[in-house]
Amino acid sequence: MIIEQLTEPLPGSLMPTLSGSYYHDPAVFALEQERIFEKSWMCVVHAADLAKPGDFKLVQVGREQLIITRNRRGEARAYFNVCRHRGMQVCTTESGNARRFQCGYHAWTYDLDGKLIAAPNLTKMPDVDKDTYGLQTVAVREWLGYIWVCTAEEPPSFEETVLGDVVDRVGEVENLDHYGVENLKLGRRIAYDVQANWKLIIENFMECYHCATIHPELTNVIPQFADGWAAQTKVNSGGVFGEDVEGFTVDGSAGVTKLPQIAPDQDRTYFAITIRPNVFINMVPDHVIVHRMFPTGPKRTYVECDWLFLPDVVDQGMDIDKSVQLFDLVNQQDFDACEKTQPGMESRLYAEGGSLVPAEHHISEFHDWLIKTISPNAQATA
Ligand code: FES
Ligand code: FE
Repeated sequence: MIIEQLTEPLPGSLMPTLSGSYYHDPAVFALEQERIFEKSWMCVVHAADLAKPGDFKLVQVGREQLIITRNRRGEARAYFNVCRHRGMQVCTTESGNARRFQCGYHAWTYDLDGKLIAAPNLTKMPDVDKDTYGLQTVAVREWLGYIWVCTAEEPPSFEETVLGDVVDRVGEVENLDHYGVENLKLGRRIAYDVQANWKLIIENFMECYHCATIHPELTNVIPQFADGWAAQTKVNSGGVFGEDVEGFTVDGSAGVTKLPQIAPDQDRTYFAITIRPNVFINMVPDHVIVHRMFPTGPKRTYVECDWLFLPDVVDQGMDIDKSVQLFDLVNQQDFDACEKTQPGMESRLYAEGGSLVPAEHHISEFHDWLIKTISPNAQATA
């Protein structure tokens, strides 16, 4: 596997993509797992999925399976799902509520803070120090109503690598804060098992050159997307609703209650940002759509997409179907394109890669970041 150097573009010229092997080679995927997913802050669980102390969910981050839970004080906690005795998975249920985690092999038992609290014959084994043999803790943060984790031994600064990145990226959007994402409520979640490399999904999300071809419903709502440019800035994109469009819905009909703090220029506008390595956020006047990607193999990615609305909208059972339908269709169209692109990555015709047209040039910044991050000497920072 060759770590390649991308060349600077001539204005208006084509730029090279990564070569095909980046999208299917298990060796590349192994490097990505080790140096990106296991070293970056990853957005894993919506806070409401763990509403009460003891609620837990298993998630896969890189090669590691983690238990995400809340302790008795309601604080988010994350642990490697590996028993400190002989390594069995301590928790074998996908999600639920627990007062403690007991390993099914020899019954070592851990509390919600990961502390070893019981083991058979513990009093006869003075070497087994309860404080030393707790579950291995993983760094945790809560932000935007989601729980983020980092499995690195020395996690990079969340402020610099996630918040700093977003502030940079949302420069034009200004005010992700206006959407109050952390106060919104989950209205709908749809999961997609996509048979494509995770980078194809990110690259697809970063450009709208394909919008006119595959997104008729979206371009009806945001006509400027049909020209393929999408008011695209370096790393994020936005678009204004068409004249007759009342809301970000599958048929352009009115949506639900608008978010109260959005600025006037956000009132009929769509904004999208990516937070490396696994989050996309779409913001429209009455809801926010959050995608979390979990790469599960070189050619497979599990995506969970959440539609978030004002709590009243969800609690009162307002009709969100048309809002959900629009981006569910967009997702299906995008993921179908990614799945039909995946086989081409292994063609000998793509051994040297393909081309980025000028409207896609910002994708090369993602490629540069990827190469830098998985290079042998890289200090991975996402
Ligand atoms: Fe967990 Fe033995 S492996 S108690
Ligand atoms: Fe798309």
